[in-house]
Amino acid sequence: MSYIPTPGQALEVLKKYNRDEFHIHHAKTVSAVMGSFAREYDPENEEFWKSVGMLHDIDFELYPDQHCVKALEILHDEDIDEDMIHAVVSHGYGICSDVAPEKFMEKVLFAVDELTGLIGAAALMRPTGISDMEAKSVMKKFKDKKFAAGCSREVISRGAEMLEMELKDLMDKTITAMRDNPVE
Ligand SMILES: [Fe+2]
Repeated sequence: MSYIPTPGQALEVLKKYNRDEFHIHHAKTVSAVMGSFAREYDPENEEFWKSVGMLHDIDFELYPDQHCVKALEILHDEDIDEDMIHAVVSHGYGICSDVAPEKFMEKVLFAVDELTGLIGAAALMRPTGISDMEAKSVMKKFKDKKFAAGCSREVISRGAEMLEMELKDLMDKTITAMRDNPVE
């Protein structure tokens, strides 16, 4: 029987497949940012959004070459709710999955997964970190293709397009979400 895990339960499931602190930290960051977007756009489903964020990369540590494919298997084995699995798999649309994000929540996941990486890397370059960081400084890093080259600018742009949001506004919201919901 499938179930909808709370964010705490999602973290426990995540930890069965992930040991690397970097991966767990990334999952918590995306979960926190999803929660922040949910409070603005879909407050009654905040927990659901957070759990999706927590689980989205569950297969990446063990199966980096089968990202999103193994996630489908693992999450089925773990009896996770189908809508949650759809959201997880759709975050790799056009990269490692042909399942398109449909719901607004899924589009947010697609966009912020990559963007939190860029913002996190940009914050590390500043003595004051994210505390007083503005979207325009992330935009500069966005245009500097050599900076955090692993963060796909194309995916971030596509995410903003899907959300019908200006890139700068998406950055603003994501910076605020990360600043207000720090992960230890
Ligand atoms: Fe991710």
